[in-house]
Amino acid sequence: MPTALITGITGQDGLYLAELLLAKGYDVHGLIRGQNNPRRDLVADLVPDVRLHNGDLTDMSSLIRALRDSDPDEVYNLGAISYVAYSWENAALTTDVTGKGVLNLLEAVRLHAADEPGRVRFYQASSSEMFGKVQETPQRETTLLWPRSPYGVSKVFGHHMTINYRESYGMHASSGILFNHESPRRGHEFVTRKVTRAVARISLGLADHVTLGNLDARRDWGFAGDYVEAMWLMLQQPEGGDFVVATGETHSVRDLLDLAFGHVGIDDWTPHVRQDPRYRRPAEVDELVGDASKAREVLGWKPKVTFPELVTMMVDADLEATRQGWT
Ligand code: NAP
Ligand code: GDD
Repeated sequence: MPTALITGITGQDGLYLAELLLAKGYDVHGLIRGQNNPRRDLVADLVPDVRLHNGDLTDMSSLIRALRDSDPDEVYNLGAISYVAYSWENAALTTDVTGKGVLNLLEAVRLHAADEPGRVRFYQASSSEMFGKVQETPQRETTLLWPRSPYGVSKVFGHHMTINYRESYGMHASSGILFNHESPRRGHEFVTRKVTRAVARISLGLADHVTLGNLDARRDWGFAGDYVEAMWLMLQQPEGGDFVVATGETHSVRDLLDLAFGHVGIDDWTPHVRQDPRYRRPAEVDELVGDASKAREVLGWKPKVTFPELVTMMVDADLEATRQGWT
């Protein structure tokens, strides 16, 4: 039975990946931080077979302990401060966790498997946010990186460090350059979930508006459940590599509003949407759209859930959660 260690187990992707690996028969371990993490119960409810290890990406000794105690064949580094807007307010902390945390884990893996480089396969959660002020459309593995946020800069550091460990030490290290992916488990701070939660509340008469920032931003949005499969496929290849994972379609926040409100029968959402400069960013990433040809050709991966299906799934889940008082 292969063994995997996942950092960021409490997050959206960590939960989907744990479910996928458990279904494949893996022994799954997760790194969890904090003395009383409020999401510990969620992990225990959704993926009770995952064994948790206390640790933090900024604490190298905790990573070494987690590796020693789990002795994994595969390590998935999903842990990060992942909210782009927050990264301007906490740039140094974001750099420590999202950037230097990658180096801490790579080094801990290298030391753990010093007898046989490549024994432990490593996945780094890189991001389309690294393309920032895009230099080419659509974006692919070779597109010049031009990050526009402390989060994006930190991800570029982690991305290049992953490549460097592959090239320097012969590690089986892969970097998934994932475009935005969402689900009913998405954090409430991200625009898709903020909209679908608000639409549910508005449709049930519990709220009358949602306040947003830039409605013209465009993203390549896919379903998180599809994207974790690409992570796993990368680690099944004979060698590590870098892969863009995307749908190849781009939609604006306005398109998201059209679909989400339309699904509950509200065709004109303008009375329900306010805009506030507070939700705008010091430097915006205007438009992202990925070219996932390499993932399709080498990994045999393609997305299954379309953008309208994704939005519908999220609105339906938020309607149910709101009716049941879970949210
Ligand atoms: P998420 O829901 O925000 O989860 C982030 C995870 O990181 C949480 O489990 C969090 O744990 C953990 N974490 C935060 N600080 C940590 C620290 N100091 N040490 C260890 N763990 C820490 O993010 P996600 O959407 O699942 O994304 C997973 C990864 O993919 C992230 O690295 C993200 O940057 C990257 N990514 C995401 C997308 C996307 O669209 N979702 C796209 C590209 C790349 P707590 O519960 O303790 O806070
Ligand atoms: N969060 C948020 N809240 N975003 C808003 C709002 C709002 O009220 N109004 C407009 N937006 C716009 C943002 O300005 C941005 O252009 C877009 O909606 C998407 O914002 P987020 O959902 O916060 O995601 P993100 O693209 O910044 O970052 C996500 O995707 C990255 C991959 O490209 C995160 O998951 C990152 O961790 C990930 O790397």
